Amino acid sequence: MHTTLAGLNLANPTMLASGIMGYTAESFLQVAKGGAGAIVTKSVGTQPRTGYANPIVVQTKAGLINAVGLPNPGIDIFTEEIKYTKTLLHIPLIVSIFGYSAEDYATAAKKAANAGADAVELNVSCPHVKQTGAEIGQSPKLLAEVTQQVKAAINKPLIVKLSPNVTDLGVLAQAAVEAGADALTAINTLRAIAIDSETQQPILSNIKGGMSGPAIKPVALRCVYDLSQIVDVPIIGCGGITTWQDAVEFFLAGASAIQIGTAVADNMAVFSTITKGVESYLRQKHYKNVEEIVGLAHRK
Ligand SMILES: Cc1cc2nc3c(=O)[nH]c(=O)nc-3n(C[C@H](O)[C@H](O)[C@H](O)COP(=O)(O)O)c2cc1C
Repeated sequence: MHTTLAGLNLANPTMLASGIMGYTAESFLQVAKGGAGAIVTKSVGTQPRTGYANPIVVQTKAGLINAVGLPNPGIDIFTEEIKYTKTLLHIPLIVSIFGYSAEDYATAAKKAANAGADAVELNVSCPHVKQTGAEIGQSPKLLAEVTQQVKAAINKPLIVKLSPNVTDLGVLAQAAVEAGADALTAINTLRAIAIDSETQQPILSNIKGGMSGPAIKPVALRCVYDLSQIVDVPIIGCGGITTWQDAVEFFLAGASAIQIGTAVADNMAVFSTITKGVESYLRQKHYKNVEEIVGLAHRK
């Protein structure tokens, strides 16, 4: 089920979401064997980071809350892994970048692109260096500045991954698109907390974290639905996708591709299960390809 998105040739419209399978060529190959159409790496910054102390992940009834703290080897070490991965992998490798300023993002993105990344995805759920408390993805001005500088620094497709922790996602999406985003991913995790009734304390070492998994699916679906009425660039749906029915719902809402994160932790073959399910849905309903169902939920 080949499909194209912002100039990328995807083996199928399912992708690994950022952060789930780390940074190594071996784990990316495992994901490719599981049937993914493309891979997004864990977010990498200009400098190495160790991340937060344990506990960093809590299991809840309908998903995970994580506050991992962006542990990563730094882009200079990671470029070697990008080059090695590219010699083995036959699906697009999208490198996720985080930073604390537009310059950080542009520097890391340029190095990733030069090392062979097929595209870059910006994780903008990070505080700005000069504006503590606010995430870059919560300010249209900062988001536009970051997007613009990355766009000017690379010659590859640029995907901006939106944070749902905002009042008006449409304003941020428009800012990203006007600044040069070739596609949008919606959504990153929703801010959440877990508290232990025995210790009477927050469980995560960082106190708050990001919610993922089935609990956030209806929110993510609503974000995709809203965005597809606002922007003209392709949207990649992400949040709680576990079954092929979930995937179909995202396509109908307006997503051209989907990313899967939390569900991969339990089942690496989730990509091929979803792709097969979507294929048989399309066949049954007499559609030739997935493009034909993108946005159908908006029909009056
Ligand atoms: C353990 C964990 C680590 C994550 N790390 C990143 C990351 O480094 N960069 C990023 O953009 N998103 C990160 N995410 C968010 C996922 O890419 C995705 O947006 C979110 O989990 C919703 O999708 P899901 O419900 O399919 O997991 C992480 C999620 C989890 C659960």
